[in-house]
Amino acid sequence: MILLDGKKLSAEIKAELKNEVENIRAKGGKIPHLAAILVGNDGASETYVKSKVKSCEEVGFSSTLLRFEESISEQELLTEIQKMNENPDIDGFIVQLPLPKHISETKVIETIAPEKDVDGFHPINIGRMAKNLPAYIPATPFGILQMLERYKIETTGKHCVVVGRSNIVGSPMSILMARNAPIGNCTVTLCHSKTKDLSKFTQEADILIVALGKPEFVTANMIKEGAVVIDVGITRLPDESSAKGYRIVGDVKFDEVAPKCSYITPVPGGVGLMTVVSLLQNTLLAAKKIFY
Ligand code: GUN
Repeated sequence: MILLDGKKLSAEIKAELKNEVENIRAKGGKIPHLAAILVGNDGASETYVKSKVKSCEEVGFSSTLLRFEESISEQELLTEIQKMNENPDIDGFIVQLPLPKHISETKVIETIAPEKDVDGFHPINIGRMAKNLPAYIPATPFGILQMLERYKIETTGKHCVVVGRSNIVGSPMSILMARNAPIGNCTVTLCHSKTKDLSKFTQEADILIVALGKPEFVTANMIKEGAVVIDVGITRLPDESSAKGYRIVGDVKFDEVAPKCSYITPVPGGVGLMTVVSLLQNTLLAAKKIFY
């Protein structure tokens, strides 16, 4: 079993980005600038956004964090997004999800200018991705593709089973793995909460990508011997023996599943770290105006 080491890969990619920034600086070009909008005080969202800002600093990007109270109106937030669309200093920006219930996620995403939508959530970017045209690929799926690529895992002709159909991970992942692309060409099955007899499908997976947000849901009996297992889940479970008072677990019961796998991602230290660097890579593409 080989561990897909997100820590090592993300450090490699950060070093590459840092190098790019130095080249840009040497030529007097514009330093990539990522902005993030955070609404409210959700603990997990706060952690993710801080990690995005910190990673910008590490590679030498500029970053801006805009925070708003939970009570901000939808219209006020849309106005802030318009300002970011029009601000030439900001190359790309994200609005951290989830949003408070009174704000429409759809309206927010559709207000972001596609050329600055480094999360790749705008319908224009999703449509372009589905058509295999140049587009921002959502950060988590992009990170997973890069893991498969850098570990030289063959995907062509393989059966890829994706569990979870979220807009952020499962749905775009299923499209990407089926595309005619170097990392793709899979036969894809997309499973979700209404799937009957889930194990029947997961047991058939050469590549299993699990993104349903249920801690330690996938057990050894659900896996085919030699499978590649990608665990996207990140859940904090209360743990009094830990200094932080919690421990992080994935959607896969790692200890019993790992021995059956050819490759598996750990949690933490797997996909999560790749998500952050992929967002930075999209920001670099935005700054260089590669797609738009
Ligand atoms: N919430 C969970 N993951 C993401 C992400 O990749 N981007 C944004 N904007 N919000 C998220």
